[in-house]
Amino acid sequence: MINLVLALGLIPVLLVLRRFYHSHFAPTFLEKPEGGVPRPPLVADWVPFVGNALSMTRGDAFWAGVIRRYGPVVRVRAMGEVRTFVTTPGLISYVYKNSRNFDFLHFRRSMSSQIFGQNANHAQSDAMDAIIFPGHHKNMQPGSIADLIRKYADHLEGGLKQAVEAVGDEGKVVDLGDHMFDILYESSAKAFFTPSFPAAAFKPSFMAFDAAFPLLNLAALPAIARRPAEKARDEALRIIEEWWVDISDEDRQQLAPSMLGMVEASEAEGWPLRDIAAFFLSEIWALEANAPYAGIWAVVELLRNPSALTRLRTEITDVIATLSPPTLSTLLHKPQPELPGLLPYTNAVFQETLRYHVDTLSLRVVQSDCVIPPNLLSGGIGAETGLRLHKGEQVICATRVPMVNEEEWGADAGKWNPERFMKGGAAGRSMNPFGGGVSMCEGRHFASAEILTFIAAFTHLFDADILSDTMKANPQRIGLGVQQPMGGVTRI
Ligand code: HEM
Repeated sequence: MINLVLALGLIPVLLVLRRFYHSHFAPTFLEKPEGGVPRPPLVADWVPFVGNALSMTRGDAFWAGVIRRYGPVVRVRAMGEVRTFVTTPGLISYVYKNSRNFDFLHFRRSMSSQIFGQNANHAQSDAMDAIIFPGHHKNMQPGSIADLIRKYADHLEGGLKQAVEAVGDEGKVVDLGDHMFDILYESSAKAFFTPSFPAAAFKPSFMAFDAAFPLLNLAALPAIARRPAEKARDEALRIIEEWWVDISDEDRQQLAPSMLGMVEASEAEGWPLRDIAAFFLSEIWALEANAPYAGIWAVVELLRNPSALTRLRTEITDVIATLSPPTLSTLLHKPQPELPGLLPYTNAVFQETLRYHVDTLSLRVVQSDCVIPPNLLSGGIGAETGLRLHKGEQVICATRVPMVNEEEWGADAGKWNPERFMKGGAAGRSMNPFGGGVSMCEGRHFASAEILTFIAAFTHLFDADILSDTMKANPQRIGLGVQQPMGGVTRI
């Protein structure tokens, strides 16, 4: 018994020693500089395997502390993987521009099987790079999505009309986040997958899959720990397959061009139903895991800032008065490229919401050993010599760090203030809410129309007051795009 107590007592001592070693020796000593060029410093951590995973939930404060201590390029251990993070606009653009040495496509193919459930051999086949990815990219360009946006506007109008009737003259206490999510989720899902898709019935499975996404993303996790996440994914795929086998020819032709393109390419390759369902799941996830939350945050920030809300409502009412016919419906059906010019303040609200609420970790894999040039390193280890990266190493662009940096955006960078996007006030500053380079978001044109029209319609049709405001970003959800809100109750 005494031996057991002694052995248990040793654990904290060993952890402290390990931490001391990593803090003071490992960053510079463990791996000797090769040719005088050191490796990026390894951020100290307490617990093997888990590493800094818990500290990273501190978000902006974690990064500020790490950069102060180690410099702008660091290696961080989290959940069994050590990855290199770059955190300044110059370094991020260096990685995005050198797409040959910082590869993304291998990761995108792996995601298709590891996360969405496509057959692993098919996911790594030439058809993905030659047909599926380029086709999807082309089909999400502004020229290809005009009809999709028109359908979305129709469903948004229908959904909002129903919501107005349900609220009635008396008003109603609702969870604003859930309420708005449902409107955005159903309108966009119906536009992409036709009203035949059982969007409402699928929502619990989508939510379960979305919650499982971070676990599916962890390649180093033992198989047994991944199992519940894979079960959630299999259930989502099962529902999609059930719907898909009975879809009519007419509905099939009405799918979003990006989706129909992937279906036709899979069929031409002779791939099974499960692969087609996996493409549907990836499209639904891309569609619903970010844009609805951006719409929710925009409205919540407006409610928290009444003068911004008044200014935005005035803009919308004034613009509607100039249209023919002068209705909200005409505004909602305007082509996407016209909207930012027509609604400059609403667009500033949208941009500021992205700046303030997007947290993306954008991943690349190093193709051959290289050195990050010293002129990109403002301080820390390697400022004189550069930093050495090894083939196979994962490099992550931490795009949020510069988007909330005071040097970049001024002393009020930590506050939501759409004014900064008026009159070109954001020009030349670091702004990568949609990622960059070869992995830049293909849905950004659709997302911009979806969110701008939603903000316009919701604020024009509803009066909302906040009864209690506990809404904040879910700290467990790291690096996957728009922050997920948790909490918050409101009356409309
Ligand atoms: C406000 C809403 C959105 C935000 C903030 C957002 C953000 C992003 C970001 C940051 C990436 C790059 C990820 C990386 O580099 O690792 C990305 C990729 C992507 N997004 Fe979005 N997204 C949004 C909406 C959408 C929508 C509505 C779609 C439509 C289906 C979509 C489709 C995609 C696709 C297909 C990619 C992968 C591009 C590639 O791998 O080359 N996104 N998104």
